[in-house]
Amino acid sequence: MISLRDLTEADLPWMAEVERELFGASAWSRELITHDYRYGFARYRGLEVDGALAGYSVYGYDGDAFHLMNLAVLPEMRGRGLGRALLEDFLAEARVEGVGDAWLEVAVTNEAALGLYRAHGFEDVRVRRKYYQPEGVDALVMRVALRGYEPEH
Ligand SMILES: CC(C)(COP(=O)(O)OP(=O)(O)OC[C@H]1O[C@@H](n2cnc3c(N)ncnc32)[C@H](O)[C@@H]1OP(=O)(O)O)[C@@H](O)C(=O)NCCC(=O)NCCS
Repeated sequence: MISLRDLTEADLPWMAEVERELFGASAWSRELITHDYRYGFARYRGLEVDGALAGYSVYGYDGDAFHLMNLAVLPEMRGRGLGRALLEDFLAEARVEGVGDAWLEVAVTNEAALGLYRAHGFEDVRVRRKYYQPEGVDALVMRVALRGYEPEH
């Protein structure tokens, strides 16, 4: 069974470990995650399958726009709709906030994430050169209009 909940501070070491495995040198460190969790504006969400964490997202409203900062699914749990569930949770929350659109950045090389975001109506806005460091990979800034749009199923 799939369920979503807010991450607690006790979940952050798990998240930091997954970050390191998935993103290597450009991963969010445990210190950064803990500081952002405590003092930032973001919401940290966890997705569980049969009671065990299998993915997470980080998103929030900065008073100006709704942003997706992070989203990941454990490698062995991919391809079964969990990324979609996390993204739809983000979009539902953005709608509750009443914002007109939602934003994210994604590496131009990240085919899986690009496929997920495009399937939910995100469109390319601009490229940020060498946004991901230390690799120097470009980021694509994407946006979806939330009013008058229904996701594909
Ligand atoms: C991106 C990610 C979250 C997708 O998670 P997932 O659980 O495998 O995705 P889902 O099973 O929900 O797939 C939903 C849609 O995403 C797209 N997608 C998923 N994997 C894909 C792939 N390998 N290639 C192309 N599109 C893909 C498809 O549109 C898919 O819809 P479909 O199943 O109807 O074809 C996962 O690959 C991941 O954690 N990657 C590493 C972390 C990361 O890069 N996060 C993004 C940071 S911006």
